[in-house]
Amino acid sequence: NQASMIVDKDFTIAQVDERIYGSFIEHLGRAVYGGIYEPSHPTADENGFRLDVLEAVRQLKVPIIRYPGGNFVSGYNWEDGVGPRDARKHKLELAWWTTETNEIGTNEFAEWTKKVGSEVMMAVNLGTRGVDAARNLVEYCNHPSGTYWSDLRVSHGFKDPHAFRTWCLGNEMDGPWQIGAKTAVEYGRLANETAKAMRWVDPSLELVACGSSGSGMDTFAEWEATVLDHCYDNVDLLSLHTYYNNNNGDTANFLASSLDLDHFINSVAAICDYVQAKKKSKKKLYLSLDEWNVWKSQGSSRAEQRWQIGPPEFEDVYNLEDALVVGCCLISLLKHADRVKVACLAQLVNVIAPISTENGGPLWLQTTYFPYLHASLYGRGVVLHPMISSPKYDSKDFTDVPYLEAVSVYNEETEEVTVFAVNRHLTEGLDLRIDLRSFGEVRILEHIVLESEDIKAVNTKDHPENIRPHNQGNAMQDNGHIRSLLSKASWNVIRLK
Ligand code: AHR
Repeated sequence: NQASMIVDKDFTIAQVDERIYGSFIEHLGRAVYGGIYEPSHPTADENGFRLDVLEAVRQLKVPIIRYPGGNFVSGYNWEDGVGPRDARKHKLELAWWTTETNEIGTNEFAEWTKKVGSEVMMAVNLGTRGVDAARNLVEYCNHPSGTYWSDLRVSHGFKDPHAFRTWCLGNEMDGPWQIGAKTAVEYGRLANETAKAMRWVDPSLELVACGSSGSGMDTFAEWEATVLDHCYDNVDLLSLHTYYNNNNGDTANFLASSLDLDHFINSVAAICDYVQAKKKSKKKLYLSLDEWNVWKSQGSSRAEQRWQIGPPEFEDVYNLEDALVVGCCLISLLKHADRVKVACLAQLVNVIAPISTENGGPLWLQTTYFPYLHASLYGRGVVLHPMISSPKYDSKDFTDVPYLEAVSVYNEETEEVTVFAVNRHLTEGLDLRIDLRSFGEVRILEHIVLESEDIKAVNTKDHPENIRPHNQGNAMQDNGHIRSLLSKASWNVIRLK
């Protein structure tokens, strides 16, 4: 099997918005309680944050983290989560049927994100609440001082405004499971009015309207068009959510999931452009894929775990094939860097996450941590058009799936070019030849590979190092080209300078 790729610095797609390496922490399962926050843990700092988790997140260089939900936000009263901790109310949380202690709220999360070096992507509740609570929250978070809400923040110990810039106008408002779900007209109107008021408080906000909760929804496409009809002028981005799994055991088909993501992104971009054309607007809307991942666990255990505090939920264990799909999706995001400006791997700790912890115990890294880490570290710069020729296969849901999924990013500052490549072939290597024409002489800095004889290999608490990337890949110089035999079912990062 032979494949080739031309990498030319004149064929640019766009500068990567680093926020495509964002993630998501929801008040769900053990993401917050037992994840980022566990005051009784041996590594906990003075604020109760686990330092082992902090360090694993810091390594990822996550630029932005969505908070506090997810479905959780649609029943959340943000005022419950600020002010003196001992006065905070315990409440029934109706999205996941837990007891929310409110020990962690907006200010604590802002502090945590500062420690990990991220920005917050804040979500407002448009399920049970609306314009008033949202504009008050913006005033509380972003207004310097001299008003009731901003002075309240100052009195809570936060003199400087948080200056949160990117805000989600609700979450998955089309989903019948959502607390206070809405029709597209109801939501479109509410999003528009909320956006106006929020921006009157702080004109620098960047606002994200809810697209469908998935492309499989009956109202998909119609929802996007109707919502944007109402709020196009007052929002900047439209959200997309998507999750993949191999629950029917068809790995070749599963590995093609990023073709679905490509199609999804193109479809939503087309709807945005349709509304732009209809409105004769000069403004282009961008996309926020603010929930994406492999998600295998089915159904919530909320019925059995009713009203517990931080019960385990959706603690998926990821194997090599899951990591390859995450890698392919990251490549898809890079290929759409001209349109997708924010993306959040959902989620970050314990809940469908690359980082796992045990309460009172250790932390370990899932397979999916690695492609995410590599893309975040080396995928910054200008994305170059992937001119690829590759053998292809057909699977249950896809035709013409290239065995080679790849893209390259040129970092002008460091003058490094990084090729991200997945070999989807399950049994054979792929002989890849990279033509770097405009770059002249290049040196191979490193060829990182994530591979295993067992595509179902996982890391666990007891075997945390079972599957790890190595940097002994076989990329080499060959007559002015770079050549590598990519191992079967592997994730590759070829760093060149
Ligand atoms: O990420 C988990 C859940 O998936 C989120 O709460 C919701 O928005 C989506 O359905």
